[in-house]
Amino acid sequence: MAADIKVFLCVGIAVLLTGVGKSAFIGKSHSGGKGDPVLQYVVNNSLREHPVLTKLRLKTLEDNWARMMVAAEQAQLMANLIKLINGTKAIEIGMYTGYNALSMALAMTENGRVVACEIEESYVNIGKIFFKEAGVENKIDVRVKLALDTLKELIEAGEAGTFDFVFIDADKRNYDNYYEKSLELIRKGGIIAIDNVLWGGGVVNPAPNDITSQTLDALNKKLHKDQRIELSMLTVGDGLTIAIKR
Ligand SMILES: C[S@@+](CC[C@H](N)C(=O)[O-])C[C@H]1O[C@@H](n2cnc3c(N)ncnc32)[C@H](O)[C@@H]1O
Ligand SMILES: *[C@@H]1O[C@H](CO)[C@@H](O)[C@H](O)[C@H]1NC(C)=O
Ligand SMILES: *[C@@H]1O[C@H](CO)[C@@H](O)[C@H](O)[C@H]1NC(C)=O
Repeated sequence: MAADIKVFLCVGIAVLLTGVGKSAFIGKSHSGGKGDPVLQYVVNNSLREHPVLTKLRLKTLEDNWARMMVAAEQAQLMANLIKLINGTKAIEIGMYTGYNALSMALAMTENGRVVACEIEESYVNIGKIFFKEAGVENKIDVRVKLALDTLKELIEAGEAGTFDFVFIDADKRNYDNYYEKSLELIRKGGIIAIDNVLWGGGVVNPAPNDITSQTLDALNKKLHKDQRIELSMLTVGDGLTIAIKR
């Protein structure tokens, strides 16, 4: 018994010293994980950022809430997934200044369309300048209102089962509602990507007063059992779930 505890302690200390335990929460290249040499290596050797996306990222970094912005390496992954499934219809739930909305629009062919949900008009106004500069403003349909209302409107308009890709990245307390509505809106083989599913590691044994971590943990556990989807949880950024509709 004593020997077991010693091994346990040694492993624990090794994990602390080597930072192996942190590798699951690698963070974003523009915040959190910024100083991480491995993440820097990944970005240095794989990021292919459109010049207007670079401009939008730099402009957004001037904002106090820039940590909300999706990581460039994560947006690129999602753009590649859209290309992989020949996506032409996407929804962005929580667009902020539009980095990912623009990235998705750029990944799509001429007939592509991104419905972007956002409540804060000042963020939208920043994004629109860059959508125009990239020449894709007609591909991005921004709806400035509660995202849940936009999703309901799309369903009422007969667009259920027609979307290829949804990115869920707005208020966490509505995540389960967003997931259920997204599942209605996407086609078979379509992808729902869900951001912040690790919440900085908070989802591992969430504290009793940490409602956000509890909400995300409950959703993660629900999806694990959900037979309507294929599932992967990636340690990209703050944790990214990929759910593919069966
Ligand atoms: C994490 S940020 C999104 C980042 C964005 N996906 C990107 O590419 O950088 C979340 C955004 O959701 C917006 N938001 C919060 N609650 C919302 C709601 N109920 N409906 C629509 N947008 C909402 C916030 O104003 C904020 O801009
Ligand atoms: C990444 O590129 C930057 C800028 O060129 C350089 O300063 C940094 O050392 C590189 N880091 C790695 C790990 O490749
Ligand atoms: C996507 O489109 C290309 C070219 O039109 C086609 O060759 C490919 O099979 C399509 N892929 C999917 C997953 O539909």
